Amino acid sequence: MKEQIKKHIRILQELGYEYLYTERGMAESDLEERLKKLEELNKVIQECKKCDLYKSRKQAVLGEGNPEAKLMFIGEAPGGDEDKLGRPFVGRAGKLLTRLIEATGHKREEFYITNICKCRPPENRTPTPWEMEACFPYLKQQLEIIQPKVLCLLGSTAARAFLNRHVAITKERGSVINWEGKLVYLTYHPAYVLRNPNAETTLFEDIKKAIELAYS
Ligand code: URA
Ligand code: SF4
Repeated sequence: MKEQIKKHIRILQELGYEYLYTERGMAESDLEERLKKLEELNKVIQECKKCDLYKSRKQAVLGEGNPEAKLMFIGEAPGGDEDKLGRPFVGRAGKLLTRLIEATGHKREEFYITNICKCRPPENRTPTPWEMEACFPYLKQQLEIIQPKVLCLLGSTAARAFLNRHVAITKERGSVINWEGKLVYLTYHPAYVLRNPNAETTLFEDIKKAIELAYS
């Protein structure tokens, strides 16, 4: 029986099916495919001039993390540290986000982290509705590649980009909304928590709930 399977696999390999050795082999090919697509997308955004934010950026910041993440954290736009390092959420707000994720017993690398806008707005101002609209298709491509189950939106700006309306985050945080077949979970932006330390426990509980939703 084993010999038959081996022979079958050899035949398929001769026909050009490279990844039929094991299930692990197949999983690896899928992962490679996703990484390749994300790398291609990264090249596109580094050259992108669809909105004026390209003028002041050092570099666009695509996002980082597990290309097969069940949960994606989505912020507003890169800040100064992110613009300099080319990585999302690595400044003060990012360190808080990382600390809260790890306090749940999970690792930051398990998830995917990105922003609505891929380029830093001057003086870290809020991106305009037009800038968010111009950049949204890149996020949509990331969603198609990564296919997360849950999107945890950090702050009212990210929420607004998805829901196309003003969002009062203090009232609406904790809501789960169905968005194009995905679960969207609204919570505070970690920068808000830096200014309002009393909100830290709530952000922590929200992150825990978003993770539970993603893995349930
Ligand atoms: N704030 C954001 O919204 N995104 C980052 O990447 C960093 C800070
Ligand atoms: Fe392009 Fe987005 Fe950067 Fe605007 S913010 S230039 S749309 S990558």
